[in-house]
Amino acid sequence: MKNVELETIVSLCKRRGFIYQGSEVYGGLSGTWDYGPLGVSLKRNIINLWWKMFVDARQDMYGVDAAILMNSQVWKASGHVDTFTDPLVECSNCHGRFREDKIDTNKCPTCGKASPFGPARQFNMMFKTNVGPVDDESSISYLRPETAQGIFTNFKNVVDCFYPDMPFGIAQVGKAFRNEISPRDFIFRSREFEQMEIEYFVHPDKWEEAFENWRQLVWQWVEALGLPKESVHELEVPETDRAHYSKRTIDFEFDFPIGRDELLGLAYRTDFDLSNIQNSSGKNMEYRPKDDSPSYVPHVIEPSFGLERAVMAVLCSAYQEDEVNGEKRSYLKLPYHLAPVRVAVSPLLKNKPELIDKAREVYEMLKTEFGNVMWDDNGNIGKRYRRQDEIGTPYCVVVDFETIEGDTTDTVTVRHRDTTKQERVSISDLKNYLAK
Ligand code: GAP
Repeated sequence: MKNVELETIVSLCKRRGFIYQGSEVYGGLSGTWDYGPLGVSLKRNIINLWWKMFVDARQDMYGVDAAILMNSQVWKASGHVDTFTDPLVECSNCHGRFREDKIDTNKCPTCGKASPFGPARQFNMMFKTNVGPVDDESSISYLRPETAQGIFTNFKNVVDCFYPDMPFGIAQVGKAFRNEISPRDFIFRSREFEQMEIEYFVHPDKWEEAFENWRQLVWQWVEALGLPKESVHELEVPETDRAHYSKRTIDFEFDFPIGRDELLGLAYRTDFDLSNIQNSSGKNMEYRPKDDSPSYVPHVIEPSFGLERAVMAVLCSAYQEDEVNGEKRSYLKLPYHLAPVRVAVSPLLKNKPELIDKAREVYEMLKTEFGNVMWDDNGNIGKRYRRQDEIGTPYCVVVDFETIEGDTTDTVTVRHRDTTKQERVSISDLKNYLAK
């Protein structure tokens, strides 16, 4: 992975309207981030790509969108109430609280006091809340710490409505919340984030085959995001580090500027969740095959994709620096299908009404066709190119004097982000040209 500082990405994201600190106007709220116009567009493009690849393009997938608030029984049965914890230590001097496994416990990272920590206590990471006007034990609920449980609890609904053949999967994209002890590293570890998860249900004898298949599909996803293969690494997670529900996990790690760390996970969750739901709800979670062979509780392969980590990996790997006409330039070499703005349209000069009128016409045509098209007449043309490069816009279309007079009327300049090369394209061909 080339050397890009996290600070460079954070600053670009803020300056150009991708990502802001959450509640910034009030001094922020730790572990929360707000997406600006470009960030939301990038995020949507990633979600849409994921949905297209793993739901729409397949015949064995069903989408759901479950409520974030769920009956607290869900989190008891899933093991989250008892085991979804991180080890918390507190400094005896400054009372700073830290995740024990993320610091050197010989010294407090805040005040520097030597050996300040007693034994760790287990801190549950779920956000607790009360549902309804009564504030007692019976109304306790939690903001979901994973989207997965909204899939498991709808397993029977989907089977009863669609009666799918085995194997099949249920997919969901949505928010998850974790009261992380130390949110850090920009959007990498936040308290509110989004997951794109699949629970893929299989016959218990078929889990290894399905696991291997999903391992390959994860690599296809890595490629679709435009991440260099050599920056992504599989880590076979040892039993002692695996989540309580998993019999096998591979973490796909990415070389982030903060070091190599988890991008997404692939886990074999056995029948842990469906069997627990069956036991605690009393409802039958067995799948009855159409050929009358014996019923069984399906086993599950779970590819779990963190959206923010995908955003961060895409931004870090897209960031490039080079020199154009003797000047340093930075740009985002985003895959075209992920770029928040596909095309920027400009009049060469902003004080020539005839250029502006024609440019507006071109802009409206492209905007109707593609949607994510930006009007940009700020500053001189060189500055506009730099700005569009920095947000990863693949094409700048410029309406200049040749567009409105001379032999090449009705052609525009199309300038390419990666090469900075320019060519003339006729307005009538423009939509086809840019759709390629
Ligand atoms: N349902 C399985 C599950 O939630 P996980 O490994 O805890 O597994 C899956 O989370 C993915 O969610 C991670 O690989 C990561 O991409 C993302 N993720 C987890 N915690 C996160 C956090 N605090 N901030 C941002 N993303 C997070």
